Amino acid sequence: MLFLLLLLTLQLVSANPIKRARNGLLGRTGQSSQDFLVTSLPGLFDNIAEPDIPMMFAGQLELYNETNNTHYFFWSFEDQHKEPDAENKTIFWLNGGPGCSSMDGALMEAGPLRINEKQQVTYNPGSWHKKGKIVFVDQPANTGFSYSLDYDHELSDVKWHFLCFIEKYLELFPEEKTNDFILAGESYAGQYIPYIATGFLEQRPDLHLAGLLIGNGFIDPWTQGISYLPFSVEAGIMTPDHPAWHTVLNQQTKCQQLIDAARAGHNPAQIDVATRICDTVLDQILKHTADFGKASDQQCLNMYDYRLKDTYPSCGMNWPPDLKYVTPFLREDKIMDNLNLVFKYDWQECHGRVGNHLKARHSKPAIDFFPQILEKTNIVLFHGNKDIICNYKGGEFLTNALTWNGQKGFDESRPVYQWYHNGTSAGYLRSERNLTFVNVYDSSHMVPFDKPEVSRAIVDLLYKRVDYEDEDSDKPRINTHAIGHSQQEANSTLMAAPVNSTVPADGSEQLHNSNKIVRLIQLAVIVIIIWSLCALYNTYRTRPTSIIKTKPSSGRKKNVLWADQLPEDVGENKDSFLLRAMHKLKGDQRGQYAPAAQHGDIEMVARQEDDFIIASDEEER
Ligand SMILES: *[C@@H]1O[C@H](CO)[C@@H](O)[C@H](O)[C@H]1NC(C)=O
Repeated sequence: MLFLLLLLTLQLVSANPIKRARNGLLGRTGQSSQDFLVTSLPGLFDNIAEPDIPMMFAGQLELYNETNNTHYFFWSFEDQHKEPDAENKTIFWLNGGPGCSSMDGALMEAGPLRINEKQQVTYNPGSWHKKGKIVFVDQPANTGFSYSLDYDHELSDVKWHFLCFIEKYLELFPEEKTNDFILAGESYAGQYIPYIATGFLEQRPDLHLAGLLIGNGFIDPWTQGISYLPFSVEAGIMTPDHPAWHTVLNQQTKCQQLIDAARAGHNPAQIDVATRICDTVLDQILKHTADFGKASDQQCLNMYDYRLKDTYPSCGMNWPPDLKYVTPFLREDKIMDNLNLVFKYDWQECHGRVGNHLKARHSKPAIDFFPQILEKTNIVLFHGNKDIICNYKGGEFLTNALTWNGQKGFDESRPVYQWYHNGTSAGYLRSERNLTFVNVYDSSHMVPFDKPEVSRAIVDLLYKRVDYEDEDSDKPRINTHAIGHSQQEANSTLMAAPVNSTVPADGSEQLHNSNKIVRLIQLAVIVIIIWSLCALYNTYRTRPTSIIKTKPSSGRKKNVLWADQLPEDVGENKDSFLLRAMHKLKGDQRGQYAPAAQHGDIEMVARQEDDFIIASDEEER
């Protein structure tokens, strides 16, 4: 009897995820979740401790049965030993571009895996999968490993396809239908995410959208387009005594005037011109601050992190350094097999032609419907403060200009909260009326790349799992805590938090109590497991010990605004993935890894689509 119980416990504790996978429902196309299970990756069991090996699913999911053959690639990571906080949550993570693969997010940012120089996976101790199941999705089609004969042209297409993906995803994982859904991502995903959120709210009221987390997002061309110079001045990149000051200032003035005119006239031609001129402000800043006397890789500022340097005119396109391991890793045949690819081809971080097609000429910029989203759910905007291209000043201009939930901007009479994570200063934030704005210290455009653990705590900010200090001073603090650390301490402080705080601590008491219970249960289960393992060991020496051999993971995303077309991309047609497959067979050079600059991931200079209208009356000089 006891023995049976032990066996049962073992099953429940260890085998459940896999069992669940095996029992996955068949999709309309006959795919089951089992077809997507990832069971091995180089280094997975050698480099990563068993408790940290996530449950993984990956593959190309068919969206609908039509002739265009659209398949979205996803890679999901779920903790096997979930903290209570992580239960019943599904986080979708999207990288930007447009056209940049969310494998950046999976393998360099929020995901649990990193790729080392030996092409093996290693563990990211700051992984977001400890806060909920995280699913990295390559989208829109023809980004990363996702493919289709068609391209999306408008952001409404992107929304529609993602909702198709969700439907198919929930056929594979029906148990997640009652989960909280969190839409996260960065850079150009600042457009995708609000569009998709609108789709959730309007078309899937049965699903609970818990919030949006947007990192260094490109959301509002009206205000963010004019932010390069003010940010550069504040960061000390540009000063009024710089020889090029007047040149840049003139350009900035033109940009501002054109934005104002475009906004007033709603003239597409004007908008086009305004966008181009505003982009050249950044181009000029990069050019005039370049030092051609330095070593070639030290000549230009990295536009994603001004603490770093790069070659000119790449200015950041060769970054982040992990890319040189990630790209060949994802191009290995064996890895593509591990990831259950049915259609293999050479992974490329960013595909410019996705952006070439996604001109979004008739799409409103996402900022236009932020107020409607904020009536229904929370949005957290976080900005790594060393990024130039989607800098935090642009984010501040955006919130200052925005009217949401009955008021314009944040209440200036309220103090800014200093944010401490695990006792260390991590940034500052404002949070009112469902909108939270976070400035993350010492972080680039890719916050989870620089600060994995801090970035993970942004999920806690969304859920108000915080406590307050010095609430009545002019420097009030908000604290978040490392996983499994000082939870009790945190909660006791929480309960002392003032009732009228801007980030209410609702439900903390229940959380506290349920944590206790969960702890007790965990403890009991652990005791039983140890006991049962001993018993099992003695009784069944031959029984396989690891039932948990099946999780791959990795992923990261790179958030790049204005990823543009490489010249080679421009000429590619709809058959490009077939062509690429052929190139691969033939060993064509295009199938090989090349530095990001040649792929033009983040090409600003060549920007062709000025999709969005830029305008602002929130000028600054
Ligand atoms: C914030 O969002 C919630 C839903 O999460 C909504 O009920 C509430 O009305 C919103 N708050 C405001 C101030 O509109």
